[in-house]
Parts: sequence; C-alpha cells; structure tokens
Amino acid sequence: MKPRIHTPLPGPKAQALLERGQAVLSTSYIRPYPFVPARGQGVFLEDVDGNVFLDFMAGIAVNTTGYAHPRVLEAVRAQAERFAHVCFSDFTHEPTLSLAERLVGRLGGGYRVFFGNSGTEGIEAAIKLVRHHTGRPYLLAFTGAFHGRSLGALSLTASKSAYRKGFSPLLPGVVHVPFPNPFRPPLGARPEEVGKAVLEYLEHLFRTVVPPEEVAAFFLEPIQGEGGYLVPPPGFIPELKALLERYGILLVADEVQSGAGRTGHFFALEHEGVKADVYVLAKGLASGYPLSALLFREELASWRPGAHGTTFGGQAVAAAAAHATLDLLEAGLMENARQVGAYLLRELKAMQARFPFLGDVRGRGLMIGLDFGTQEEERPDLRDKAVELAFKKGLLLLPAGPSALRIAPPLILKEEEAAMGLEILEAVFQAL
Ligand SMILES: Cc1ncc(COP(=O)(O)O)c(C=O)c1O
Repeated sequence: MKPRIHTPLPGPKAQALLERGQAVLSTSYIRPYPFVPARGQGVFLEDVDGNVFLDFMAGIAVNTTGYAHPRVLEAVRAQAERFAHVCFSDFTHEPTLSLAERLVGRLGGGYRVFFGNSGTEGIEAAIKLVRHHTGRPYLLAFTGAFHGRSLGALSLTASKSAYRKGFSPLLPGVVHVPFPNPFRPPLGARPEEVGKAVLEYLEHLFRTVVPPEEVAAFFLEPIQGEGGYLVPPPGFIPELKALLERYGILLVADEVQSGAGRTGHFFALEHEGVKADVYVLAKGLASGYPLSALLFREELASWRPGAHGTTFGGQAVAAAAAHATLDLLEAGLMENARQVGAYLLRELKAMQARFPFLGDVRGRGLMIGLDFGTQEEERPDLRDKAVELAFKKGLLLLPAGPSALRIAPPLILKEEEAAMGLEILEAVFQAL
C-alpha cells in the first residue's frame, strides 16, 4: 500500500460528516485537520472518500500493532464470544488476572496492579494511592507535563493553560517545577547544566515553599509527550530519583504515552536504569482497546477493599487485546521500534542540516519530536503548516508542545514505510 490522495481534502463525504459533527458534537473537541477515517490496515488509514494515508500518529500513540492486526482481532473475537464484561473490581477473572501477572513480571515482581480504562483514570488512581499511603498532601510535577484531564490529573497537567482555564480551583497542594528542556533550557541555564539547575531549584523549593516531608510523590513522564516529545538530559532522572529518596518522596512514572514498547523498551524508564515506585500505562497497552494499568510497589498496598474501584477497568476484551499486544511486542515489535526509530532519527537529523528551521530532532525508538525554530524563537506557524501540508500529501502527523511535531507511528512500521514518510516530509520541508 502507498499514500494516495485523489480528492481535494476534505473530500465530499468527509465534508458532510464534519458538518454533521458541527451540529451535535461537543465544542471542546479539537480537529487538527479534517481527516475522517473509514478503515485501517497495517500502518495505513483510508478516509471515507477513499484517500489513503500513512499513519505517523497512531491515534495519539495508541495503535501499537497498527490496524486490524490478525492476532489482535483473533484475541478480541475469542474473548467477546466468552464474555466482554463481568466487572473486575468485584470478580477475579481471566484474561485480566494473567495480564496483571504478566505486567508485574515485566518489572521483575514486587508490584501490584489496578486496572482502569484511560490514562487520566490511571493517573487519578495514582494520586489517590500516593496520598492515601503516605498521608502527605503535596504533589509535584513538571511544567509542560500532560497527565490527563479529570480534575485531579488536570491539576498535574501544565502543558497549556488553555486546558486549565475555567476549571479552577483545582486540587490544592500541586506544585510545578520547570522541566529540564535541553533545547530551550529554563532558569537561564546553559543546555549542559539544565539538569543541575532544575535539581537546585527543587532543593530551593523544599527550603522555602514546600516542606519535603509533606510531599507524597513526584509525577514524571520519562519522555515528555504532549509537552513536545522532550527527552530529559542524560543522568537527570537517576539524580532526581536519588534526591526524592532522601525525603521519602515516591516517584510516579507516567508511561501512558512512552510505555508499552514505544521507545524500544517496554517502559521508557528502562533507558534510565532506575525503577519507579508507581507506573501508569494506558494508550499503547491494548492496541486501541480502552485499558490502563496502575502498577505500584507491594509496600504501597495499604489501601483497603473499596478504597478505589471502577466498573469497566480491566474489561476482558481489552485485556485479551493487551495480551495479544504483549505477545507481539515480545516477539519483535520492541526491537522493531528500536531499529526503525534509529533509522528515522538518523535520516531526520540529516534533513536538519538541509532545513535549518528544524531546530531540534530528538526521541527514542518510535517516539520522535521535530522542533521548529531556534533555541530563542519558537515557530509554531511553520510546525502547523508542516502538519497541514503533510496531511494534504497523505501523511498523518500531530503537533506536540509549543513548536514541535511528533512522530508516533504504529510499532509495526517497516523501514520502507518509514522511507515513504520521509519522502513526504522532505517535500513538505521543501515547500516550507
Ligand atoms: C503522558 C500522558 N498521561 C496521561 C494522559 C491521559 O490519557 P487519556 O487521554 O487516556 O486520559 C495522556 C494522554 O495524552 C498522556 O500522554
């Protein structure tokens, strides 16, 4: 298959659906471009007018195994014939139980699992768990972070003030710390010193504003997603973890976007050589079926039956899809994410030399960000134009952060398919 655009975009059928949507759908929905999917196969999506697109966004980093993967379809069908839902919060059942065992196994044991349906629910559960267990009120997170949109998770989210506008008061006790962005460093730091500057700021915060013994947890994305696909400087996360340990502060790794193999390891934190006290997985875990998993260290399991629950979390069909996804990740997709990701990163860095408006190319595995502008100047206008032109040429991308775009394809992407995407990007950058 190849990208193929044969109507103006949006085509007539897409246009009709978009108009119907305008009449009934919530005005809070964003539409980055007028794409109306009809069906998918592998890494390609066809719209309602028969245009074919190469998918470098995977439903916002969700569709690990692409579209209509036969192994996922088979697992889903088999489980749907047995039962879809009985309620895992009340009744133990397969395949959800063995999924919990499998996820704990990936951490080498010593953790427990709570299942939800979405990233924000996983984060909400993490907030409740760390407060309940420590009895401490404060929570820390980074500026630029995205942790979800329910009111607790939204209190941690700090990627765009528009997400928070009109919803205050949010959860009290949440304090944000500048993210150590190596491309555009905060706190007047030089790029090579930004990690140190942020840790010093944190110590300053502990001396002046936030008593560290009252902080329950630090919420961290191992690679900041919505904030711009930003990789923290080497060594920063282990140093942060050591500092937090000195004060008995828990580390919560929000792996909703970075987890489930996207970076080439199952957990992105594995690149850093540290373990978190709590992990949250969602997006890529079940290849598009709604599922999140909160994994927490055995010692934190002090909450009692009824302290937290949910009707749908751990639903059996989603759990079956997650098993199939894990099978495929273990059978080679993580390795593929590493290899094809390295190829894309190499080629994009070569493009950077030809197109100086590409200020930064960064990422791990198939979680790659391209930042437009320079260290001093963000160019969201160029980024937005690039996303729009790519769409018109048959490549689906998404923005991330103030001036970056993200490349987050299904992990089944082959090198020759990656090359098709690069060819379109080359044409887009020429046109810019
Ligand atoms: C890192 C991170 N955490 C949490 C969330 C919230 O997940 P959901 O949209 O499934 O509620 C997202 C979603 O983009 C995310 O990227």
